Amino acid sequence: MLADRILGVQRSPFYSIMELAAKRGDCIYLHLGEPEFITPQHVREAAKKALDEGHTHYGPDRGLPELRQLIAAKIHRQYGAAHNWQDEILVTAGGQAALHIAVMALANPGDEIVILLPHYPPYVVNAQLAGAKAVFVKLRSEEAFVPNPADIERVITNRTKLIMILTPNNPTGAVYPKETLRRLLDIARRHDIVLIADEVYESLVYDGLQHTSLLSFPDAREHVVQVNSFSKTYAMTGLRVGYLAASADKLLQFLKYHHTVNISANVPSQVACVAALKGPQDCVEEMRSAYQARRDLVVKRLNDIPGVRCALPKGSFFVFADIRELGIGSLDFVEYLVREAGVVLTNGSGFDYEGFVRVSYAAKPESIEEAMGRMKAAVLKMPAKKNT
Ligand SMILES: Cc1ncc(COP(=O)(O)O)c(C=O)c1O
Repeated sequence: MLADRILGVQRSPFYSIMELAAKRGDCIYLHLGEPEFITPQHVREAAKKALDEGHTHYGPDRGLPELRQLIAAKIHRQYGAAHNWQDEILVTAGGQAALHIAVMALANPGDEIVILLPHYPPYVVNAQLAGAKAVFVKLRSEEAFVPNPADIERVITNRTKLIMILTPNNPTGAVYPKETLRRLLDIARRHDIVLIADEVYESLVYDGLQHTSLLSFPDAREHVVQVNSFSKTYAMTGLRVGYLAASADKLLQFLKYHHTVNISANVPSQVACVAALKGPQDCVEEMRSAYQARRDLVVKRLNDIPGVRCALPKGSFFVFADIRELGIGSLDFVEYLVREAGVVLTNGSGFDYEGFVRVSYAAKPESIEEAMGRMKAAVLKMPAKKNT
């Protein structure tokens, strides 16, 4: 009865971890990309007002004009890229929908999509749903999970259509240097490939570093599609607004897909996004600096656990900790931590990268402290042979 295209998609083994955690109770969840902060008040107020004023109907399919103007202005201000708000910005139901739309509209069955490991799992599902082949390039922890463009160029064939680029990165926290991005764009231009630039964590960069957008290169227009979102920057994951910035010819085709699935993005949420972009930006900086302190905390506490190693990543709100010395598979380790400590992390194998676990520090510092204490005690209890 069901279509092969969906039956071919694997259900993540992580669901069983969640069931295990629910059964145990009293768990600390450090597995989600979910900001613990409440959405800023002026953003919530704007959504409420929109509802009260009756903005409860379909919106324009491309997104509210005011919001698209603000997005285009933001892109210009931050990255110097000129995108026409009328036909080069599409407001979507979250960055997740933006990713799906872009892949479905750009990749033909049989095309190849280069995906870097560890990956954001929906990249693989989107490739599958498009009938395309995911071609993996494994990044190295010794290189801070920053891609080596030569490794990527090596896997390119005449079927390569897209390369998924995610900076700041989930799950590694890596922030790609400008020179790396420049070289990736050169590769895309040389081989006539599109880079899908997932920049949903653009505001979460630490230690005085700057995020470089692929859109900031003057020759990016034909070869870069930016996926972006309000979810992380303004702690508004549940309002579900993201966007695509791309050349008008591509965007027109994206619109067909978006219109078929969503008609338009949620209108009160778009009004909230207008308030987010127009309003004071202190909330963004406050959250960013709070995350930086939490990152320092989680990295320090992880490195204090025998057999666990963690470098200091520069962005997003994840660390990808090395557990290879523990001599246990990442899924087994995550299960063990749920059972023994009531701490929920994400197994590296879920990102096709064994030997590591992802820890989200979007949680409250008290929760991080408590979780790290429990995790250390649980690791110290592990059978000695596993500690070798
Ligand atoms: C790398 C990455 N891209 C896209 C998304 C989608 O975010 P949203 O749909 O909330 O905008 C997420 C969410 O966790 C993510 O981590």
